[in-house]
Amino acid sequence: MILVTGASGLSGSAIIREFARQGYPVRALVRNRAKAQALETLPTVEIVEGDMLRPGTLADALSGAERVLLISTADQQMVETQCAFIDAAREAGVRHIIKFSGAESGVGFNQRNFRFTRMHEDVEHYLEQSGLAWTHLRPSQFMQVYLREAPTIIAQDALFLPMENARLSPIDIEDIAKIVCALLRNGREHEGKSYDMTGPESLSMTEVAEQISRAVGRNIRYVNVTPAERRQALLAKGGVPAYFADALDEQVSERLKCSESQVCLDAHKAFGVRPTTFAEFARRNAAVFRGESMPL
Ligand SMILES: NC(=O)c1ccc[n+]([C@@H]2O[C@H](COP(=O)([O-])OP(=O)(O)OC[C@H]3O[C@@H](n4cnc5c(N)ncnc54)[C@H](OP(=O)(O)O)[C@@H]3O)[C@@H](O)[C@H]2O)c1
Repeated sequence: MILVTGASGLSGSAIIREFARQGYPVRALVRNRAKAQALETLPTVEIVEGDMLRPGTLADALSGAERVLLISTADQQMVETQCAFIDAAREAGVRHIIKFSGAESGVGFNQRNFRFTRMHEDVEHYLEQSGLAWTHLRPSQFMQVYLREAPTIIAQDALFLPMENARLSPIDIEDIAKIVCALLRNGREHEGKSYDMTGPESLSMTEVAEQISRAVGRNIRYVNVTPAERRQALLAKGGVPAYFADALDEQVSERLKCSESQVCLDAHKAFGVRPTTFAEFARRNAAVFRGESMPL
């Protein structure tokens, strides 16, 4: 049995939907079933509740699970949560854990200077020493993070970010879902391997705004703001804890040191997945950028 943790989250739910599309059985670990209603009706999906920080709640999730995709929220407890889960999985007889990690695509980006990539590296090392078979998947920035900019795109025809001329190579979560599905179904040959993965283009924020403009049919400007202005806007919106704003400050400061961004399509090639361009992503989500619908 294949188990996916973090299954009610952004990437976990996309991966579960991909399993359902392929008609392949998968078990979805969620902390709260009420948050996973959209997954309840999908065929071939078994939903199980459990808390990764409380091993006693994981018996049903881990029973008979051979291979696990390990995802949890990027928060202060991510290392503790994922290491506790790795221990519980080993106790339960899981063979192979695929760690959903992350790596910034900026050329020269020091992953240790951004707390979330640092935490991912720490969990990767813990997993490698656990005695379990492992594979690390390290996606770059998700294209879906730009959907969070929809409010100012809709209200002000503008994308406000503190990126100056730095470029990024964002990846579509739908591509990640296809890669992960293939890996979870045929994992053995990928044990002990790490895959960095990005989208197919390195883009400046001006280019991102141009792609969104084409998709929505009106001119969206990229407006560079200072990191402090961006932080203030995020905190003013509410729902963003201070530690998360601090993490974004670290990320921006490192990104601004790296104006170029690498493109790495090894995982797309290895698993036969066609890389989605930002233009395709923007067209697929044009209704969200126009304010006509909500993201999935
Ligand atoms: N954003 C990016 O551009 C990017 C790029 C590369 C990599 N990443 C990494 O990708 C990972 C996943 O991101 P995401 O946006 O999909 O995350 P997300 O939407 O926050 O989902 C995380 C999921 O983990 C679950 N979870 C957290 N703690 C748990 C626990 N103790 N027990 C059981 N479930 C728990 C959450 O459940 P609840 O719903 O109950 O809270 C949620 O469903 C993160 O680690 C992030 O660092 C992100």
